[in-house]
Amino acid sequence: MTPPAAGGTDGLPSVVVLISGRGSNLRAIVESAPPCRIAAVISNRPGAGGLAFAREHGIATEVVDHTAWADAADPRAAFDAALMQAIDRHRPALLVLAGFMRILTPGFVDHYVGRMINIHPSLLPSYPGLHTHRRALEDGVRLHGCTVHFVTSTLDSGPIIVQAAVPVHPDDTEDTLSARVLEQEHRLYPRAVSWFAQGRLRIDGNRVRLLPATTHAPAEQARAAALVVPALDG
Ligand code: GAR
Repeated sequence: MTPPAAGGTDGLPSVVVLISGRGSNLRAIVESAPPCRIAAVISNRPGAGGLAFAREHGIATEVVDHTAWADAADPRAAFDAALMQAIDRHRPALLVLAGFMRILTPGFVDHYVGRMINIHPSLLPSYPGLHTHRRALEDGVRLHGCTVHFVTSTLDSGPIIVQAAVPVHPDDTEDTLSARVLEQEHRLYPRAVSWFAQGRLRIDGNRVRLLPATTHAPAEQARAAALVVPALDG
């Protein structure tokens, strides 16, 4: 059974971030100081650059190496079960996929439905999957971009929280285009994490509504409650 989502000792919602690589989106989120507690960063690759950044910032890290389950009867399900255990020890209110390059099993996705978000380097539903910048250049599109969305069991789909579009220039290469998109990723993802932590996102079918900011958002309430000392006893 899933333990209830945690507020940390500071009353802020707890967040676990999954990475596979350099972790520049993780860095952008941490440096934005969102109204949540990054409880842990977990990677499926021991060499992921983002792990070192997390450690330097006093964030707990863990590696759940997917290759360790290669000989299991169902390697993907076995890895996802181990990953789920590692994640749930932190009782996250939100699971953030930040360059986590694994296809997730339906059981994993169901377990975190409504509290797992992903960033993808394209204007979804265009270009799900890999090599998005190369494919955009090959197609000659004039606009490209990035998307933050809730995760569903279909790869790179799910209710869209926020998107940014950038122009594609005639002389763009995969490198210049990906750098232009990445700059926007670093603006979008911290904002989306904050919105979630403030309780401002409502999923309505395939659409996401952003509620106006109020001082009564959950994270703010938790902070206010902490000011009631000693506890009211009746
Ligand atoms: C980012 O561009 C992110 O959008 C992409 O991986 C990169 C990770 O970079 N994610 C996907 O392609 C997921 N389908 P980072 O490790 O520097 O954040």
